[in-house]
Amino acid sequence: MKVSVSILSSSIKPQDIVKKLDKTNANYIHIDIMDGKFVENKTWTISEIKKITSYSQLPLDVHLMVDNPKKYIEDYALLNTNDIIFHYEAVKDVNEMINYIKGYGLKVGIAINPDTDVSVVYPYLKDIDIVLVMSVFPGSSGQPFIDNTPDRIKMLKDEIIKQDVKTIISVDGGINDETGLLCKEAGVDMLVSASYIHKDITNNINVLKNI
Ligand code: DX5
Ligand code: ZN
Repeated sequence: MKVSVSILSSSIKPQDIVKKLDKTNANYIHIDIMDGKFVENKTWTISEIKKITSYSQLPLDVHLMVDNPKKYIEDYALLNTNDIIFHYEAVKDVNEMINYIKGYGLKVGIAINPDTDVSVVYPYLKDIDIVLVMSVFPGSSGQPFIDNTPDRIKMLKDEIIKQDVKTIISVDGGINDETGLLCKEAGVDMLVSASYIHKDITNNINVLKNI
């Protein structure tokens, strides 16, 4: 299982999380960017992210919870970024955003909120690398996992198999050893986690990796 570690934490400084990550089996650092518009909270500026991520060699998995993702792409493309994920709910022209991110040579993901029908991404599956299924409403870490998420993942997985495409499914929000296992059984490829991992970084990354 691939594991992407979110640095959103109320109790540990992001620098301190990042410094530890290179010595773990984490695959990516998950960067949660919030603008105070698409969601109520605000997180970091690009200069803060540059500083925080300078302590690690791990590639970044950038999750843009913002109203105008286009504005952010170039800044994040210039970091050690593997992929940029924008929210389906935030853009008018989904194809334009996909192509814009691809233009920077990055992998592209679309995130969908818990109340967005998974079928909205079906027309784009062949053109994107990741679907990020939100298992909480975006905005903060530490929220409980929404129970119908595995059913949503299963529907999406069936469609990916039907279309015979290579898109991976990632899931974000309330992921721990138990909810991670339910998502794996439904067909997920990558787990994003903050609060569960921060309880015991090295050990809990290994638990999720070995699910
Ligand atoms: C939620 C963020 C998540 C969050 C996950 O809006 O997108 O990445 O940090 O935190 P946990 O794992 O605590 O739910
Ligand atoms: Zn996230």
